[in-house]
Amino acid sequence: MDMEAQKEIPQVRGHWFYGSLRELNESPHSFFANAGPEGHGLFQFRILHKKMISVVDADCALHIFKTNSQNYIRGSNFKKLQAILGLGLICLEGDLWKQHRRFVAPAFKPDFLKYSLSQNIQLIHSLLEEWTQHSLESKPVEIVDQMRRFTLSVIVKALFSIDIDLEKNQQLYRAIVEANDLIFRRNFSPFPFPNWVPTPLNRRIAHTRRAMDKFSNQQISLKQQNPDRDTNDIVDYLLTPNQNGELSHDEMLDEIRTLFIAGFETTATSLTWALYLIARTPDVAARWMQELDHCLGKRDPTWDDIAKLKYTENIFKETLRLYPPAYGLSRMCVAEDINQGYRIPAGSPLLVSIFGIHRSAKYWEDPDQFKPERFEKDWPQHAYLPFGMGKHSCIGSRFAYIEAILILASIGQRFTLALEDSAEVPPNAKVTLLPSRKIFVHLRQRT
Ligand code: HEM
Repeated sequence: MDMEAQKEIPQVRGHWFYGSLRELNESPHSFFANAGPEGHGLFQFRILHKKMISVVDADCALHIFKTNSQNYIRGSNFKKLQAILGLGLICLEGDLWKQHRRFVAPAFKPDFLKYSLSQNIQLIHSLLEEWTQHSLESKPVEIVDQMRRFTLSVIVKALFSIDIDLEKNQQLYRAIVEANDLIFRRNFSPFPFPNWVPTPLNRRIAHTRRAMDKFSNQQISLKQQNPDRDTNDIVDYLLTPNQNGELSHDEMLDEIRTLFIAGFETTATSLTWALYLIARTPDVAARWMQELDHCLGKRDPTWDDIAKLKYTENIFKETLRLYPPAYGLSRMCVAEDINQGYRIPAGSPLLVSIFGIHRSAKYWEDPDQFKPERFEKDWPQHAYLPFGMGKHSCIGSRFAYIEAILILASIGQRFTLALEDSAEVPPNAKVTLLPSRKIFVHLRQRT
């Protein structure tokens, strides 16, 4: 190791006792992105006695996720997530992670994605029928809740081949929405009690987990009681043995819970932000409608259209740059390392600020502006990581893209969007980067 080349990681001092706890809780995404001094790609801060490093440099991130990824494991934050997720892909490491990835990966291959697209079209039709009714009655729709309901119906259909009745399954809907809030609280709690201590937070976590498992167990038994039912879904893949044997029932429940949590709120919030940004940016909306009219007219999008709807894709891509649902990814440095000239001590917890990298003027021109066309010319690919990077990158990224292009295009074919309140909506970082308030949108039917 070249000791000469080492730079000191700058420190953010914070309160003498709490360190940066207050600032972090107030606005984690902007703290991780902006709290360090200018000109440094990393900075260190403290929460009570625990030190942590925030990374806002794309090359440092590349080193962590790719070049030296074996030295950066998921670490203690992911242990806290286990209370809800159990040992699913998000929380696993090493050989067990590899084994599980082999069970889950086949479900995200093109054959299934293609099939899933046709299923999603049906769900989109029923959502947009409701929206048409709203527009006829000049009633606005509240898109945070609408996109949550839509993405939940998509993930339930993909997992179990069923159309979920959200009125009858309020408990499941509430459990999944609440799970995200609980994960956040547990992650940023300075005093996380072990899971077995019956604190109010731990009891709520256990309750939420039970609600999700109750629903999954019912669906799995239905499948097992009706082996002749012709289904094609993710749980069918999880039930299929491979060269590593088969998943136990509990392992399967962990993976299902993981897919619910990983695939639901991330997609729901990004769709909400996309609609919000389109409604606020008339130039983008106009160019987008031209693409939709040209490629689709009034017919439903098909698998072949996905590759043609480039501007729609770039709108979603740009939304994920501005509001990356996973705004920070944590890792733990195993052995001492030099990263871009900085010495990272063994055992250091790190947080890679995806929000900070995506909004940095070092990589992006007008970083705070919504400009989907920036992806039409050369763009800094290494500074774009909404789905992570390297071996743990998102298994559902194609699934999310296809879902997003389909629903956005279908909305844009039918409606123009106008925000009820044009004031800017600041993000509110929880587990994902949520809008800080409800967003009402007026729909006008396109002729
Ligand atoms: C816009 C939507 C989405 C975003 C922004 C997103 C983001 C991410 C990110 C950043 C990671 C990396 C985590 C890490 O490195 O520690 C990840 C992993 C993962 N995502 Fe997604 N995700 C999205 C949608 C989905 C969907 C739809 C699914 C499944 C239905 C899914 C399932 C997963 C799983 C299982 C992992 C763990 C992968 C592994 O370690 O093997 N995600 N996601």
